[in-house]
Formats: sequence, C-alpha cells, structure tokens
Amino acid sequence: VILSRAAVSSEFANQVRRFSISSKKNVKVAVCGASGGIGQPLALLLKQSPLVTKLSLYDIVHTPGVAADLSHIDTPAVTKGYNGPESLKDALSGMDVVIIPAGVPRKPGMTRDDLFNTNASIVRDLAEACSKYCPKAMVGIISNPVNSTVPIFSEVAKKAGTLDKKRIFGVTTLDVVRSNAFIAEAKGLDPRKVNIPVIGGHAGITIIPLISQATPSVKFEKNELEALTARIQDAGTEVVKAKAGSGSATLSMAYAGARFAFSLCRAINGESNVVECAYIASDVTEATYFSTPLKLGKDGVAQNLGLGKLSAYEQDLVKAAIPELQKTIKKGEDFANKSS
Ligand code: NAI
Repeated sequence: VILSRAAVSSEFANQVRRFSISSKKNVKVAVCGASGGIGQPLALLLKQSPLVTKLSLYDIVHTPGVAADLSHIDTPAVTKGYNGPESLKDALSGMDVVIIPAGVPRKPGMTRDDLFNTNASIVRDLAEACSKYCPKAMVGIISNPVNSTVPIFSEVAKKAGTLDKKRIFGVTTLDVVRSNAFIAEAKGLDPRKVNIPVIGGHAGITIIPLISQATPSVKFEKNELEALTARIQDAGTEVVKAKAGSGSATLSMAYAGARFAFSLCRAINGESNVVECAYIASDVTEATYFSTPLKLGKDGVAQNLGLGKLSAYEQDLVKAAIPELQKTIKKGEDFANKSS
C-alpha cells in the first residue's frame, strides 16, 4: 500500500499519540485523612480523574464505608480503604503521590497555630510511615498549621534518611484559588482565566497574594488593594465563622487539593510547564520554607521560579511575613527533634 505524504504524516501523528498515551505512567495516589470533611470530597474528585489509576484511602475511622461508596463509581481508579495505623504499610506502599488532610480543623476564634498540639503528632506519625513505605512519593500536606507541619514532615524524613526536599509540599493552592475568585469577582472577569501567584506561607500575614503579577493585569486603588489582600489573608476565617463551629473550608479545599494533586500527576507523566505555588524548603528569602511559583517535574520541584518583580507594597508584606514564618518553622522543627 502506498500512502500519500499527508497520510504518512497523519499515521505518524497517530503513532506518537498512541505512544504518548500508552507511555503514560499509572499514578497511584493516597489520601491520609480520607474520611474527613476535606478527605471525602477530595477522594471523590480524585476518583473522577483518568490521571489516577489507584486510589488508596487511609484514615483512623470510616474508610471501609468511604471506599465502598466511591468504588461503585464507573471510573478506572481502583479504590481501596485502609483503617487504622496497622494498615499504613498497605495503604502507602507503592504510592506516587500522598495528600495529607489528616487532623483537626479550626473552630471560631482559633488560629491555625492553635491546632499545633493535635496535628503536629499526626503529621509526624504519617511522615514516619511515608519514610518507611513510600520514601519516593511526592507529598502534599494540607494539615494545619502548614507553616509548621511541612518542617515537621521534613525533619522526620531527615532523621529517617529519606529526605528529598523537592518532593515535600505544603498545599497553599486554596490561597491561589481564593485570590483568583475574589479578583475575578471584583473586576468582572472569568475566574478560570485569572491567575494570581500567592507566596509566603499559609496563615494570616504570611499569605501574600502578588496582585501586581496578576494575569490578566489588573489595577486597584491603594485602599482597594489593601482590603483585597486582607480578605485573601483572612478568607479561611471567613469560612470558619460562617460554618459557626462545624469546621473550616472543606469543599473549596478539596477542589484546591485535587488541583494540586492533578498537577503532581501531570508532572509525573512528563508534562512540561506544570506550575503551582507551594510551601517548600527554600532559599529564596531568609525564611527556610517559603511558597513561590514552582515548575514541577517527574522528581518534584524542577525549578523554583522565585519571587518575580514585587511592588513596594508586596515587598513590605514579605518583610512582615519572614519573622512570623521563622518562628513557626522553628516551632515545627523543635517539635520534630524533641519528640523522637
Ligand atoms: P476533619 O476533622 O473533618 O477531618 C480530619 C480527618 O483526619 C478525620 O477523618 C480524622 O479521622 C482524620 N485523622 C485524625 N487523625 C488521623 C491520623 N492519625 N491519621 C489519619 N487520619 C487521621 O477536618 P478537615 O476539615 O478535613 O480538615 C483537615 C485539616 O486540613 C485541618 O488541619 C485543617 O486545618 C486543614 N485545612 C487546611 C487548609 C489549607 O489550605 N492547607 C484549608 C482547610 C483546612
């Protein structure tokens, strides 16, 4: 059979397409804290995606029910529940991505740091388990206070000899999602087309939206800019107040957590130009952990894209955030180093 040039090139394109589909890695994702307010909708979003081939649901309660329920959805991800610490080995072995929303959420009047006493030991124990059973996994930590739980996780991994700073992320995607939503609303834009990098950490004044770097470019008066920045920094508390004692953001966090997990899956699959902001070990500022836009690759952070050009207002926000970050980073590190 003689094929025309056009037919040959279209057959080649098909082969490339087939190859790139078949060469896609199967991405196995675990959720630790899968029965919770965030864990359940996050697991639902992950189960819907063809990027995920195995979904491992770990919690200390209710996972048999959550997993049975999700496993009836007609998507490929093989879903299994694991209940209690004795099942951690089976839950985590072979996982490529681990997302951690385990721990207590805030009630009205609480800061994220008020959760430290309970959540620090939960994250420490999960870090020990990840170091043992999936030391090469990319880990996204949602549990608050993120500014301290990420250093805790890293210190535990360091002690276990498995630390790879490029693979440990504090999930700050909700701050980006909120910034996009609020700024789109203020300017009458399509929120899907807005992108605001958010740097720093994930609590109060450490949350720094870079509105000067917005895509598309937007302009605000000084007082509007300050009010918007304050709303973004305080958006979690807005939800905590509205939920009046029943918890903090769960649905928007599940959406943001799924977006971050999918970005990790896409990077593992070799997609280029996957960029997310996340809180990682960093030498961009004097704070040893700091969130900036990151290019993600097969092995985690491929390139830290840094701060970019900051306005004078944003430079002051960074200055104010650094001592607060340093304090909460030290608190996490001291906890991890004392408690073993
Ligand atoms: P939740 O109380 O509804 O769920 C937490 C789940 O963790 C429960 O199912 C519980 O059984 C489980 N859990 C407790 N100890 C565990 C352990 N040792 N191992 C595995 N699972 C364990 O809480 P919610 O609303 O889902 O919040 C979870 C965490 O996420 C909180 O710390 C909250 O502050 C944080 N959060 C973080 C955000 C962020 O932007 N990074 C945004 C919103 C919440």
